[in-house]
Amino acid sequence: MNRITTDINLIVDELRNGHVVSLPTETVYGLAADATNNFAVEKIFKIKNRPFSHPLIMHVSSDWDLTQWVEQVPEYVVDLINSFWPGPLTFVLKLKKNSDISQFATANQNTIAIRCPDHPLAIEVLNRLGRPLVAPSANPFGKVSPTEAQHVIQDFAEDSFSILEGGRCSIGVESTILYCIDEHNCSILRQGSITRSEIQNFCNVIEPNNMSSIRISGNLKSHYQPQKNLFYFYSSDVSLIKSRLINLDNSYVLSFSLSFEKSEIDYLFSSDPKKAATDFYRQLRKADQSDKDIILIELPPETPEWNVLNDRIKKAGASCRYLV
Ligand code: TXA
Ligand code: MG
Repeated sequence: MNRITTDINLIVDELRNGHVVSLPTETVYGLAADATNNFAVEKIFKIKNRPFSHPLIMHVSSDWDLTQWVEQVPEYVVDLINSFWPGPLTFVLKLKKNSDISQFATANQNTIAIRCPDHPLAIEVLNRLGRPLVAPSANPFGKVSPTEAQHVIQDFAEDSFSILEGGRCSIGVESTILYCIDEHNCSILRQGSITRSEIQNFCNVIEPNNMSSIRISGNLKSHYQPQKNLFYFYSSDVSLIKSRLINLDNSYVLSFSLSFEKSEIDYLFSSDPKKAATDFYRQLRKADQSDKDIILIELPPETPEWNVLNDRIKKAGASCRYLV
């Protein structure tokens, strides 16, 4: 049986002894293990049912010297680290040969993804352990990410590991991932709350070429999926949805605009993109647990501050146009 705990000593001991635990971060809860312990890292893949071809993000404390693990840290990455760490920004860097990081963590590639989480408990665990931790989101592979300890319990009812209680995640969506192998340019591999325009203040952001050779699971066409079928639509489709679509009574409707009557929807997200992001997975989980048959969700506006939610919704479902 899984258990939620507030005992940091227990969590650090378990990590030291090669166990997997769940830790809170500012983005989502992670399933963590000592990045240098092959057996421990392998367990994460088994628990999540994650293919071994999908590498993990390594979490470090903000003042640790990254050159222990990577060949070089481009100057713009140093500047980005100074501005955004601790925080939801992950860098993919060239892994040093003969590093002590488990090959399961890197999926045997010659790169490693690294970030420093902005959560006091995660930082304390890292500092007390003194070793980096790999931590994918604490959900079964391909499913909705957890933003509360209770979500982790629900998703892994059959497993037996400790979950450190750290409250609700303040950001609520996974970190922005930057591919930083080039000395001057970077590419965004996964959208997150740190936006392209914030990154462009530090370096050129170019389209990733040859993405297919970069194994990034958040980049699969479908991801972040609830159990129920989820269909999304544009605000411009609202009248079509109302007139032609299915019986709204059978649908759990999540909206980002005021184009519906209150009685027609189940939840209206905040018009503030950051607040809506914090709330997003929690509401998706509620929709999934409801007694409705399907989930209908309106896409937020197509402006940069809404990119991350547009990205997650499109990967979590299919267009409503298949239905009408
Ligand atoms: O906010 C986050 O990043 C959360 C919290 C727990 O820190 N973690 C997270 O991990 O979202 P996960 O495993 O759910 O997503 C990590 C993504 C995957 O899409 C993986 O393919 C990609 O990072 N990734 C990891 N290492 C990589 C590498 N070397 N090159 C390219 N992509 C990599
Ligand atoms: Mg994930």
